[in-house]
Amino acid sequence: MDSSVSCSWVAALLGLLCLGLEVRCDCTMASIDMEGGDYTLTKDLLKGSLLVYRCPEGYYPYPTLTRVCQPSGSWRPLPKKFLPQRCKRVECPDPNVMENGDISPPQERYFADNETNYECYSGYTLRGSSKRTCLPNGKWSGSTPICSRDSGDTCADPGIPPGASRTGNMFGIDDKVTYSCNSNLFLVGSKERVCQESGQWTGKEPACYYKHTYDTPNEVSQAFGSAIKESLTTMESLNDTQEGRVIRISKSGILNIYIAVDISESIKEEQFKQARDAMIKLIQKIASFSVSPNYEIIFFSSEVYEVVNILDFFDSKVELTKVIEDLEKFEVGDKNTGTDLNLAFVRFEEQMAFIKERAGLEGFKEYRHVLIMFTDGAYNMGGSPKPTVERIKNMVYMNPQNVSRDEFLDIYVFAIGADIFDDDLHPLTVGKGGDHYFRMKDIQELGETFDKIIDQTEVVGLCGLHLDYEITEDKESKRKKYPWFASIINVGQHPKTCIGSLVSPDFVLTAAHCFSPKDEPKDIIVEIEEENNAKRAKKVKDFKLHPDYNIYLKRAQGVNESYDYDLALIQLEDPIKISVNARPICIPCTQETSDALQLVGESTCKQQEQLLLKNQRERLSFLTRKTPLVAEKVVYAKLGESRNICIQKALLAPGISVTDPKIAVTDNFLCTGGYNGGEHRDHISCTGDSGGAVFKNYKLRTIQIGVVSWGTHLLCETNDGLIESIAESRDFHINLFKMIPFLKGILGDDTKDYAPLKFLNS
Ligand SMILES: *[C@@H]1O[C@H](CO)[C@@H](O)[C@H](O)[C@H]1NC(C)=O
Ligand SMILES: *[C@@H]1O[C@H](CO)[C@@H](O)[C@H](O)[C@H]1NC(C)=O
Ligand SMILES: *[C@@H]1O[C@H](CO)[C@@H](O)[C@H](O)[C@H]1NC(C)=O
Ligand SMILES: *[C@@H]1O[C@H](CO)[C@@H](O)[C@H](O)[C@H]1NC(C)=O
Repeated sequence: MDSSVSCSWVAALLGLLCLGLEVRCDCTMASIDMEGGDYTLTKDLLKGSLLVYRCPEGYYPYPTLTRVCQPSGSWRPLPKKFLPQRCKRVECPDPNVMENGDISPPQERYFADNETNYECYSGYTLRGSSKRTCLPNGKWSGSTPICSRDSGDTCADPGIPPGASRTGNMFGIDDKVTYSCNSNLFLVGSKERVCQESGQWTGKEPACYYKHTYDTPNEVSQAFGSAIKESLTTMESLNDTQEGRVIRISKSGILNIYIAVDISESIKEEQFKQARDAMIKLIQKIASFSVSPNYEIIFFSSEVYEVVNILDFFDSKVELTKVIEDLEKFEVGDKNTGTDLNLAFVRFEEQMAFIKERAGLEGFKEYRHVLIMFTDGAYNMGGSPKPTVERIKNMVYMNPQNVSRDEFLDIYVFAIGADIFDDDLHPLTVGKGGDHYFRMKDIQELGETFDKIIDQTEVVGLCGLHLDYEITEDKESKRKKYPWFASIINVGQHPKTCIGSLVSPDFVLTAAHCFSPKDEPKDIIVEIEEENNAKRAKKVKDFKLHPDYNIYLKRAQGVNESYDYDLALIQLEDPIKISVNARPICIPCTQETSDALQLVGESTCKQQEQLLLKNQRERLSFLTRKTPLVAEKVVYAKLGESRNICIQKALLAPGISVTDPKIAVTDNFLCTGGYNGGEHRDHISCTGDSGGAVFKNYKLRTIQIGVVSWGTHLLCETNDGLIESIAESRDFHINLFKMIPFLKGILGDDTKDYAPLKFLNS
């Protein structure tokens, strides 16, 4: 009998005596070994030590992930002889929840590396991945397969993610679907989604996680990076000082970032350093955007350790270097006993109350608050932080129900550790979009995660990002809502005005028919209002029409003027300076557009198309000149079967004497216009709208899908502006998804003196 065994025997006999008399009761190594893997101990075999099991990739520790050495000298949970600790193969949630299709091979359970194929019943079309692999982190590769058929609803069938069940089968405006996960799984993301007028569901597709499911640094970096980049870039100011740092943030608000890092007993000294370095990385990344937020940074266990006090930012200008210095100086020491997560939230609540008192009610409304918490959620003191979070929400929302202020508060939770208390942590997240909960295995991965968030110096500016908060309809806010809008004036042989869209700092996309054969670059003027009072007219270096554009091509076949390939790119003499007033729109099949659509991992052109053009009637917009600046025309692109009916009306256009409309309207066109059963009456294009972007918004980003080309009826010769379609009139727009070789050939060319766009491989 060795001494520690006898100690636990004594402890068992005398109960609490062990604590009171400080008898050293160590845990033992008996029965804690694990076949196929190993373990680490935070404090050897001393009380409070945390044992963490590890398995090779694709496996997870079973029946338990961790054990704690209790004061009595026994492990919790106790090792069980009849259920030896081992490494189990990682399992993915059940994909057999897909409706209207088949999954092969059918299995009761699916393990890491298992592959599955998805096929829809006839009459249904597949969106999402047709092939998925169960990944070592417990998730399926690709995206949720959905078999649906056109129901004429506003929103597309949102599908059912693996392991989940859904209630709600109506997809019209304001219809709601709710999700739950099957037993043993818990739900991450939006439990409830509502169909919006725009045809998009609120929130984010939920996912069902096992205890052993984790997010990879890549996934977290993309999801969190895209959310935080969006917050930061929309708050960017034009008002730079010389080093690119800003004193006052634009009128859309002032950003307060509160960071809390759990350094309780489960975290080792080395891990603490990694966490601290990761925080420094995060702050540096944020600093690369021209926004200077105010920071509150704390570490916590049973107490709160202040590193950076947000109130200092209100008294004087705090340099970023000082924040980083304070972080570097901070040591853990002997502070790590117990965890009081609520205390961290209470601290933030108090700081916010101070700020509110100083700023006054009106001033406080300007503030946006981002709380970022790093913890495993194993709080054992102070109780649940839920009531504190509710009070914080009330303070920011001004009253409990005012969710229209939900853009002003985000609470992100990074759940990190071997054993995460998801049920306690997930409900603490707050914010739009649903991407607020991240589940990571190791604090070590945090540095890598933040490192992967691309900073502002590396990107030309996020495509399609625009401001949409302003309620006022003045010229300035219109410019910020459509920062890619360009006016094109051709003063050549056949003077003409068109609309174009900024697609990179150097290029404007428009229609080929805006040019005449003898035009030269000097005949073309592009107007973009970068900033107030800045010179609007931009010099043109060159322009290129699509090589297959030829207006006479089909004259012999009975089409007087053919507009197939009606596309042109104008290169500017000097690149545009990106700002809230001037920023490129996203175009199909680029990496930036995949980022804007939050497609994680390697994505394809087809995935983008499926996301953007998913309904048989897809709501799109284009612009028309209207004081002040422009107005937005709303149209419905008819896709699938509806498109065939839509293009029939091309036969009514003057100059067309064919019987097959497809000769004039090839597959390269989108078709809009008409009544749509009286409910949605489309707008119709006017002559001056030619060349403009046909676009769709995805959250705060705008993606161009087409270019306004031609129409059957001239309904607005004298009156430009918002003209509605008649039953017979149709417009045809070049579909950019069909024009990728031309766009890629010029915009993706990396041998030229301009920055190329990154196009997807397939
Ligand atoms: C699925 O994975 C399990 C565990 O690795 C393996 O035994 C099984 O053969 C796989 N099934 C298929 C169909 O590949
Ligand atoms: C910068 O901000 C200050 C204070 O809001 C303002 O007076 C000034 O005009 C701004 N400068 C520019 C270039 O916007
Ligand atoms: C809700 O918030 C909005 C935006 O700040 C504000 O305009 C509105 O007055 C608030 N409504 C209520 C009932 O407090
Ligand atoms: C045919 O096109 C030419 C220009 O290409 C135009 O002048 C003429 O009016 C058109 N004819 C008809 C019938 O539309």
